[in-house]
Amino acid sequence: MEDYQSEYKTKTKRSAKIFARSSQLHVNGVSHNIRYYDPYPFVVKSSHGKNLVDVDDNKYTDYWMGHWSLILGHGQKNVKESLKKQIEKSWMYGTVNEQTVKLSEMISKAVPVAEKIRYVTSGTEATMYAVRLARSVTGKKIIAKIDGGWHGYTSDLLKSVNWPFTESESSGIINEEKIVSIPYNDLKGSLKILKKYAKDLAGVIIEPVLGGAGCIPATQDYLRGVQEFVHKNNSLLILDEIVTGFRFRYGCIYPTMNLDPDIVTLGKIVGGGMAIGVICGKKEIMAHADTNDKKKSERSYIGGGTFSANPTSMTSGFATLTELKNNSSTYDKINDLGDYARKELGKSSEGKMIVTGKGSLFMTHFVKDGITEVVNASQASRCDTKALHDHHFKMISHDGIFFLPGKLGAISITHTKQDIKRMVLATNS
Ligand SMILES: Cc1ncc(COP(=O)(O)O)c(C=O)c1O
Repeated sequence: MEDYQSEYKTKTKRSAKIFARSSQLHVNGVSHNIRYYDPYPFVVKSSHGKNLVDVDDNKYTDYWMGHWSLILGHGQKNVKESLKKQIEKSWMYGTVNEQTVKLSEMISKAVPVAEKIRYVTSGTEATMYAVRLARSVTGKKIIAKIDGGWHGYTSDLLKSVNWPFTESESSGIINEEKIVSIPYNDLKGSLKILKKYAKDLAGVIIEPVLGGAGCIPATQDYLRGVQEFVHKNNSLLILDEIVTGFRFRYGCIYPTMNLDPDIVTLGKIVGGGMAIGVICGKKEIMAHADTNDKKKSERSYIGGGTFSANPTSMTSGFATLTELKNNSSTYDKINDLGDYARKELGKSSEGKMIVTGKGSLFMTHFVKDGITEVVNASQASRCDTKALHDHHFKMISHDGIFFLPGKLGAISITHTKQDIKRMVLATNS
């Protein structure tokens, strides 16, 4: 590691200087905790297609892809053109605009549960509203989430995120007892906990593929089992498809698993790289947010945000979904590349690694302590996470390949088989 640190420092001298200035001004030098890594993160000056370019002119093949939001790659031509045209007209109205209607028409056609939609500017806000809505609709207070589940920084869901899932994630959070946590892909274990809280259970929020906690797909049986319990007990199923929405197919993953969620949250891809969060759901559920015919005590007050449904996010989202809809082979191509990455990484690892993921998302886990499978966040956390960090850092400093250290990789339409081969090679060298 020492060698890679000095290699990194030698090639990122300008980044070091700028980051020193950043550290004077920003806590830890960053504005999103996960963007920091030792000795300092490189500073990006531009990005194109699959590449990031830093201020020292180093080029990196990017697998972080804007927090996995850029399925079409950086600066995609048609999205850029649409944005340019919008910027010519202006970029902030603070009023109703047609771009929002156009994006919603696309989303509602592709996502059956999206009978009514509200936009915000982050996934965090979307899940915050989802929780409030579930509590309003059911009149109950408890929200269950998954051990390791990540739904953004909302205080409502900032619990049981990091191993061993027992300590508070932050000071300053109150009423933590209203969030309970259940084990992923373990239906018996989850139902045991859910039964205890059934009376006051407003809803369960789940990522169909656990993202931040290890790139782990849920089994259909697990999700359907939780759904059955939730619906039997007059609670709601909230599916957080902020990562998975429009990632594996044109639409959400839930219809392919025969699920019937009440509320779905979207983000990332549907904003095409601009700030977005989406909360959508069945008409009768979303009707609780209606401020026209509901008293204060009955309504769920969930519409706000200066920049909600701003014309630039709506435009880049619309252009991105249009591009995905018009190029039906996109998903086959990137899902195949993901299969190839998982197969090749798995084949070459000689049992040292377990590779998880689905479609164009993948993650390597360095085996430790006799772990033989990674189907939940506990197993992912008990793998050698430092080895993964070091491995990602080595690829940054030595191979010109960027994964945010410790995080899963996302393949975009701009990546090629050759890129994957190079990444596999770098993993083995
Ligand atoms: C599943 C999931 N939900 C919610 C969020 C929060 O979204 P944002 O970072 O836009 O607030 C994320 C962010 O990575 C996420 O992965």
